[in-house]
Amino acid sequence: MEKIVLIFWPEAGNVEKIADALGREFNPGQIEKFPVSEVTEEIMNRYNFFIFGGSTAGAETWRDASDSNRWSEFFLMLDKVNLENKKVAFYGLGDQILYPLHFVDGLGVFEKEFSVRGAFIAGRWPDKGYDYTESEGVSNGMFYGLALDEDNESDLSPQRLSKWALQIKKEFGLE
Ligand SMILES: Cc1cc2nc3c(=O)[nH]c(=O)nc-3n(C[C@H](O)[C@H](O)[C@H](O)COP(=O)(O)O)c2cc1C
Repeated sequence: MEKIVLIFWPEAGNVEKIADALGREFNPGQIEKFPVSEVTEEIMNRYNFFIFGGSTAGAETWRDASDSNRWSEFFLMLDKVNLENKKVAFYGLGDQILYPLHFVDGLGVFEKEFSVRGAFIAGRWPDKGYDYTESEGVSNGMFYGLALDEDNESDLSPQRLSKWALQIKKEFGLE
């Protein structure tokens, strides 16, 4: 059974809760879950399938290089890894009511960082049914990954997750 590595940040909030829920959509043991702070070059080289989960909490979370920005450190490390034969997919947490101009912007960061490094990106998701104004995580009506809003639409997350997990299995070629 091909393993999928699920890399997420931050810990202990909605992003990690969704990581666990997503794990239940796959075969037992198929998902190996790591907070981004624990991911090494060796892990990136060893596996071929990855899911990345993050939240949007203001642009500074993604862009500055302070110690708290684990993703920035991780993306720098990726420069040493060949991603050309790897398949990746993203999910992003956001809040479309409080942040309608920046809903799940973080999905756009993932897309940029992985497309520039040549990874195959799976899991694009239609923006139909969401209520937002602008997002850096969307292009032509498709989010770059699964958008989830636990603050306002947690009731929709289980069905979104199940459907997206099936899509990922197909697009990763795992079924
Ligand atoms: C300070 C702050 C800023 C936020 N900024 C955004 C934003 O720009 N866009 C968005 O979609 N959600 C934004 N959110 C909402 C979070 O992404 C959302 O609550 C998410 O579920 C948090 O995940 P976590 O519990 O794993 O941190 C913000 C939340 C906080 C607390």
